[in-house]
Amino acid sequence: MFHASCFMLPVGDSLFVIKVGIIGCGTIGWELAKACQKRFAGEVTLEALSDIDAGRARRLQKALKPRPDILSFDRLAKRCDLIIEAASKHASYEVAKKALSLGKDVMLMSVGGILGKEKEIFEVARTHRCCLYLPSGGVVGIDGLKAASVGKIYRVTLTTRKPPQGFEDSPYVLKHGIRLKNLKQEKVLFEGNAFQAVRGFPKNINVSATLSLVGLGAKKTKVRIIASPQMLVNVHEVYVQGDFGSFYTRTENFPSEENPKTSRLAILSAVATLERILRNVKIGT
Ligand SMILES: NC(=O)c1ccc[n+]([C@@H]2O[C@H](COP(=O)([O-])OP(=O)(O)OC[C@H]3O[C@@H](n4cnc5c(N)ncnc54)[C@H](O)[C@@H]3O)[C@@H](O)[C@H]2O)c1
Repeated sequence: MFHASCFMLPVGDSLFVIKVGIIGCGTIGWELAKACQKRFAGEVTLEALSDIDAGRARRLQKALKPRPDILSFDRLAKRCDLIIEAASKHASYEVAKKALSLGKDVMLMSVGGILGKEKEIFEVARTHRCCLYLPSGGVVGIDGLKAASVGKIYRVTLTTRKPPQGFEDSPYVLKHGIRLKNLKQEKVLFEGNAFQAVRGFPKNINVSATLSLVGLGAKKTKVRIIASPQMLVNVHEVYVQGDFGSFYTRTENFPSEENPKTSRLAILSAVATLERILRNVKIGT
C-alpha cells in the first residue's frame, strides 16, 4: 500500500517516486503520459500502459522516452502505485475495484462508470486505506459544491451545450432516432437526472457524475443536454442552491483536437489532479 499524497516531499527531495500506470492511451492518457515524463519528471515514473487497442498503446509507447511497458491491466495494477483510468465508462468500475483491492491509489476519468456503485467503491478504498481521485474534469464549481455540501444543498443543475457532432453516437440519440445533421437551431436533446444522463450520453457527461457524487446524488442532480449548431465550444453551466446561498458557473471549453467530446480543460484537470497528489501544499477546497 502506498499513499502518495501523504509521503511526497518537494521536488528534488523526493524520497519516493510514484510508479504510474495508465489505462487508456487516447486523448487524456496521451497527455498524462507526456506530463509524467516532462512536468513531473523525477517525481513519478511512467511504468506501464494498457489499452484494448494494442495499436494505440504501441503508438503512445513509441512517443515516450524511456518507453514504458505495455501490460495487461492485472499486471499493470500489480506493478504500479497509482493507476490512472482514462479509457471508458465500461472499464472504470473494474479498474477501480481491482486496483483499490490491491491497495493501490486510483485516478478515474470515466466517473460515470461508478455511478450507482460508488458506495461499494468508496468502501473498498476505505478498507484498503488507499485513495480514489476523481478530477473535476471540464466543469468549474466542484470546489464550491464540496464546501456547500457540508451544509444543506437544495438544488444542483447542470446544463451542457455542445456542437451536434459531439453527440452523434450517443446511446440516447441513437435510441430515439434524433437527427443531428443539418441542425439549424439549438435542440434540447435530454432533460432528466444525472443517472439517466450518464446512461444516455456516457462519453459526454462525466461531469454530471462528478457533481452528483459531491452534491445531491445522481437521482437528484438535474441535467439538461442541448445540441447547439452555433457553438464552437463545449459549455457547462452549473447552478447550485443551498443554505449557504447560491452560485452559478459557466465554463466555455475548447474541445480537444483529437476527441471533440473531451474538453481541453478536462485534460488539464487530470494533469492538475496528479500535481495535487504530488504536492504538500493543496490549495482550494
Ligand atoms: N471526468 C471528466 O470530466 C471527463 C472529461 C472528458 C473525458 N472523460 C472520460 O475519460 C475517458 C477517456 O477520454 P479520452 O478523451 O481520452 O478518450 P479517447 O477515446 O481519446 O481514448 C480512450 C482510450 O481508451 C481505450 N479504451 C477503451 N476502452 C478500454 C478498456 N476497456 N480498457 C482499456 N482501454 C480502453 C481506447 O482504445 C482509447 O485508446 C472517457 O471515458 C471519457 O468519457 C471524462
